[in-house]
Amino acid sequence: MFAKSWQLVGHVSQLEKTGQFFTAEVAGEPILVTRANDGVIRAFYNVCPHRATKLEKKEAGQKKILQCSYHGWTFHLDGKLNKAPNFTDEDSACVSNCALRPVRMEILESLIFVNLDDHAKPLSETYGDFFERLERFPFMGELKRVNQKTRVIKANWKAFIDNYLECDHCHVAHPGFVATLDMKNYQIVTCDNYSVQGSVVKPDKTMGTTDLNEAEMQGGEFYWLWPNLMVTIYPGPGNMATIQMIPIDHETTLGVYTYYFRDENLTQEEKDLVAFAEQVRQEDVELVELEQIGFRSRAFTRGVYSKSEKAIVQFHEMVLEALGR
Ligand code: FES
Ligand SMILES: [Fe+2]
Repeated sequence: MFAKSWQLVGHVSQLEKTGQFFTAEVAGEPILVTRANDGVIRAFYNVCPHRATKLEKKEAGQKKILQCSYHGWTFHLDGKLNKAPNFTDEDSACVSNCALRPVRMEILESLIFVNLDDHAKPLSETYGDFFERLERFPFMGELKRVNQKTRVIKANWKAFIDNYLECDHCHVAHPGFVATLDMKNYQIVTCDNYSVQGSVVKPDKTMGTTDLNEAEMQGGEFYWLWPNLMVTIYPGPGNMATIQMIPIDHETTLGVYTYYFRDENLTQEEKDLVAFAEQVRQEDVELVELEQIGFRSRAFTRGVYSKSEKAIVQFHEMVLEALGR
């Protein structure tokens, strides 16, 4: 599933200057994304073609040249070989093809995705009108990736996706959330390889503040994209957060939470929004960890779906299809 789907690896705000790069991992593959001197953003396998050593070890940085730590081969940020020490001109034929291997990459709404599958549908065709929906938010082009938090969750990655895809649990588990959104008008819509849910904000409530700019008034919109990406936009100041659930093993998941705002220095309103989102997430993590205990029990063999859990049904059907069942 992970090696055949589009996976979010970063945001263009991480590569504003030439020479900037960041590394990532997709389905166990080390990935390197760079902005070379020609200004072009490219993605490669982060693997030295000489003897396979993982090339760039840092998470992010800015360099004129990339150097392998094993035998010192150097590469330009466009992936071309610069120098291969110990190889003379006579050997040049055997190293002339030694560039970094590129990986499929597409950038939409400043989000950088890679796909290890050369035959996968283009990103722009994979998720229906999702990117057009994102584009509607007037602040989208101004957002920067501001920070990222990770946490290890003691549950299967799919349990967290299930949790995200329904709001039947919201009244019981998220008192702060239901107090803020108009739950009578809460909707869940399934679309092509993604789903969206959300509501309008109750007129007298905003996230942690009462001074909401009318122009920025928006209901919360919560997207899920096959298989493991969630994109949330909360009411209030221009904002976006992404959540990625990356399996460590079948009972442990790395949750990666990334926040995007207009500026790195958060306003009080933005800080309140982050605190609000973290509170809801904490509530959800506790639930899925309890759920995982039950998954292990002989008492549980299968669950049931309510009518308002159709986004979970869509997800489960996609999982079964991907597993060839
Ligand atoms: S493995 Fe990279 S230079 Fe030898
Ligand atoms: Fe929840």
